[in-house]
Amino acid sequence: KSTENRLVLTRPDDWHVHLRDEEMLTSVLPDTARRFARGMIMPNLDPPVHTLAEACAYRNRILAAAQSKGLSFEPLMTLYLTDHTTPEEIRRAKKSGFVYAVGEVFLTGATTNSAFGITGFARCEPVFSAMEETRLPLLLHGEVTDPEVDLFDRERLFIEQYLTPIVERFPGLKIVLEHITTREAVEFVCGAPDTVAATITAHHLLLNRNAMFVGGLSPHHYCLPVLKREHHRQALLAAAISGNSKFFLGSDSAPHPRPAKESACSCAGIYTAHAAIELYAEAFDEVMALDRLEAFASFHGPDFYGLPRNSDTITLEKRSWVVPEEMHLEKATIVPLRAGGTVAWRLVE
Ligand code: NCD
Ligand code: DOR
Repeated sequence: KSTENRLVLTRPDDWHVHLRDEEMLTSVLPDTARRFARGMIMPNLDPPVHTLAEACAYRNRILAAAQSKGLSFEPLMTLYLTDHTTPEEIRRAKKSGFVYAVGEVFLTGATTNSAFGITGFARCEPVFSAMEETRLPLLLHGEVTDPEVDLFDRERLFIEQYLTPIVERFPGLKIVLEHITTREAVEFVCGAPDTVAATITAHHLLLNRNAMFVGGLSPHHYCLPVLKREHHRQALLAAAISGNSKFFLGSDSAPHPRPAKESACSCAGIYTAHAAIELYAEAFDEVMALDRLEAFASFHGPDFYGLPRNSDTITLEKRSWVVPEEMHLEKATIVPLRAGGTVAWRLVE
């Protein structure tokens, strides 16, 4: 039972997570699987997960990694959309029973391994029709990639130039605008039909863009879409705690090896899986909205996807702990969010 310092939640799911592959997968999966029952698995491996056969093989690697650690975890697979994806592949994917969405869909150049993304949406129309018909949702990385456009404006312009027309043209297509970062995205999603929802990360609820620049340049706070101004963070927090079922948890935990982050050309991505639900608890607690966390983390996602809510629970305790400076893998090191700092909530196992 929940008390002031103890929170019992229906077990949450992570609706947007990068688990990577091979050693990285085996090392990061336990962090996710200890907290979440299910995860929507992003397909941006190198090369990405394009086909049903590749999604099936990747799913088996994830299940094997979970089993090797004695953990139960259900990977919900996604297919990476390219200019060459066919409506037939979409229908086969839906029938497979283990592919739950198409995405994270990027315009070419948006982020990690997005060189394989699509060059525009016009030629995807037959695929979108097939998705509309089979009720396979579209997960969007909502940023334009035009080099002329200011990085901080890319989400807002994506909504105007791409998302608005797609929503109008495909009224039955379920769409999740992933990891939203702006007030404009919150307003769009609130005003859109019920087919449109959004995920929000813990880092975008906890940090504004000062985290990247103040006190020295911090590559460990660099992600895409990039952190925004404080008034955007406030809008995201208000949406997350509002009880509006269009908003749900997607950590976007995105591990990179330390040298790839601490580089003259740092990779985008923040690793948060080690404390994913705890960080959300902190964000909700700061605005005294812990009573809203369960719906955001455990109900709105499955409800949107038409999946059952989980039936077991997790327990969090308000007792701070120190995050390790780094996570050692055999061949790599990951620097998690808050490395060397504290997190106010802890998972009770
Ligand atoms: C920037 C802003 O408003 O400061 N946009 C944003 O944070 N979303 C854009 C800019 O600095 O020009
Ligand atoms: O910061 C990010 N990292 N944003 C993305 O969209 C991709 C992710 C990654 O895969 O590293």
